[in-house]
Amino acid sequence: MADLSVEFAGVRFKNPVLVGSGEPTYSIENMRQCIEAGAGGIVAKSVSNSPGLRRMFSTWRILNEKHEVARGKVPRLFTFYARGGASRKTLDEWLAVLKEGKKIADAHDAVLIGSAMGPDISSWREQCQRMEDIGIRMAELNFGCPHPASMKLEHKEGMEIGQDVELSAEIVRAVTGAVSIPVIVKLTPQVPDVVEIAQKMKESGAAGVTMFNRFVGFVVDVEAAKPVIEGWAGVGGPWVKPLTLRWISKVYAAMNDFPVSGSNGPYDWKDVVEFMMSGATTVQLCTVFLVKGLDYVKDVVAGLNAFLDRKGYKSAREIIGLAAKQALLYDDIFRLGRVRATIDEARCTACGICLRSCMFRAIQSEDGRYRVSQDNCAGCELCFSLCPADAIRFVPAPVSAS
Ligand SMILES: Cc1cc2nc3c(=O)[nH]c(=O)nc-3n(C[C@H](O)[C@H](O)[C@H](O)COP(=O)(O)O)c2cc1C
Repeated sequence: MADLSVEFAGVRFKNPVLVGSGEPTYSIENMRQCIEAGAGGIVAKSVSNSPGLRRMFSTWRILNEKHEVARGKVPRLFTFYARGGASRKTLDEWLAVLKEGKKIADAHDAVLIGSAMGPDISSWREQCQRMEDIGIRMAELNFGCPHPASMKLEHKEGMEIGQDVELSAEIVRAVTGAVSIPVIVKLTPQVPDVVEIAQKMKESGAAGVTMFNRFVGFVVDVEAAKPVIEGWAGVGGPWVKPLTLRWISKVYAAMNDFPVSGSNGPYDWKDVVEFMMSGATTVQLCTVFLVKGLDYVKDVVAGLNAFLDRKGYKSAREIIGLAAKQALLYDDIFRLGRVRATIDEARCTACGICLRSCMFRAIQSEDGRYRVSQDNCAGCELCFSLCPADAIRFVPAPVSAS
């Protein structure tokens, strides 16, 4: 059995599978279930003394691939379109929950991470100081919440903070100057350059980053001619994974000594592997538990373990960044050269699919048999994806003089 333990931002986790901040960690009962199911750590629901975030109520929809409400049939690539706020508890009440949660976490060799969100710098600082005082070993600053952006408050909140790099840095400096536990920053993906922000968070004292909270979206009900759940809302689901992995791999490539916790898009153990191979040290799953229940943590940990064993990895740490290190830049990819399609006539059924989809008009039909014009073929490999008969093969393209 592989060693699943990882060190993330100076803290050891028995495995990299974490439950992200949200309703799965909203109560002591939920925390207990996640921990007993085997999570390496959990990030508690964010607490906040912001009136805006405390008044927000939860309205959630699971959408299918047509962006209709799923109504009992949840596809693998579902969309979660939802609004919700912070914990309804006051800081004092929430600290009592965290204290209890920490006891359960300690008894199971798991890590309870506190999550802060505040309307001003002193609130962020106070929340993290008081978490440290009760023995919490790591704090996450939620700079990515997709909801308060349009609430017309006088101060910035949620992702508006994450989009303001100077304000983010100021809060991180204030918090890390006041506590000695590691502080990680949960980023929003809705910025032009995540690497730049991660670098700034590191310089300001953050011990790592969580990438990411969710996007904001707009989903339309055409029959009613109005938005689903009345307006803008957080949007995500397993389909956002490639967008998240792009930035995780970029941050890993630019600053691979700076730990990343992955979030936004993981669904199962294989996704955990993809996040880690892109450069994440731990992976936080959240929405999937709303669909599959909290005991699903067990399947994710077991699946990761089985994968590592099957592939002969001795530890989970070995897979961190493997794919990111293999990623070629465009210049290197051009040097690899191109391919051309050919058709395996024994398999081809002349169904017409490649013919209609080849935008380079390279597939030609003669007497009912398909051939590829080598002059026209751009080597894009689209026909390989579309052919239902597995009749497409590739050969290296001749090297062009230019
Ligand atoms: C219902 C719900 C509530 C959430 N609440 C919080 C929160 O309080 N604090 C926070 O930092 N992130 C919160 N998140 C964001 C998740 O922790 C996570 O970053 C996001 O959902 C993307 O990961 P996923 O694709 O695994 O869901 C919430 C997400 C959901 C779906």
